Amino acid sequence: NADQLKEQAARAAVALIEAGMTVGLGTGSTAAHAVRALGERVASGLSIVGVPTSQQTEAQARGLGISLAELDEVDHLDITIDGADEIDLASFSVIKGFGGALLREKLVARATVRQVIIGDGGKVSARGLTKVVPVEVVPFGARHTARALERLGARPVLREGGGAPFVTDGGNRIYDCDSARIAAAIKALPGVVDHGLFIDLVHTIIVAGDDGVRTYRR
Ligand code: A5P
Repeated sequence: NADQLKEQAARAAVALIEAGMTVGLGTGSTAAHAVRALGERVASGLSIVGVPTSQQTEAQARGLGISLAELDEVDHLDITIDGADEIDLASFSVIKGFGGALLREKLVARATVRQVIIGDGGKVSARGLTKVVPVEVVPFGARHTARALERLGARPVLREGGGAPFVTDGGNRIYDCDSARIAAAIKALPGVVDHGLFIDLVHTIIVAGDDGVRTYRR
């Protein structure tokens, strides 16, 4: 099942971590498997410093006894292991942010030497990137920013949870938008902080399917 495949991809990625590395810790159910596997290695003596991409991952890593630092306390990350919502192997680009952590995930990815994306085979698209792109918007004037997104043809849908707007770790909102093609125009709007399209940031993709674990390098 998908969860076992997520774990297999996560364990293959965690095997790439070496003593002394600075390690970016991704967010989501797949990345959580990696944090758990890393916690096991730390418990058996591996010394690394982790930089979490969300409060959720920070709490998990702390609970496992993984030493943590803020992004600004490290010069770079040697490796980051993170999940994705949709993976395009042809362009080595991915969509992230269905879990709402795209901004910190992207800031950590930019500071990373080797960004490793992990996923089960269900995340791989054979038709390019087709899913909605999460867009993080500052709350001030968010409705006006949403109107500007509409004028671009992005068909923004405010993400909600429990009847209220979803709030990111940075205190912002998320509009799920169409499509990856207009990501640059979306990003250029005032009020938009960033979007979940990761291009030119991914170095390694590890996919676990029924036929085994495959590693792709850019
Ligand atoms: C979090 O904001 C995301 O970018 C996640 O990495 C992505 O949503 C994948 O999550 P799952 O591993 O739970 O599918």
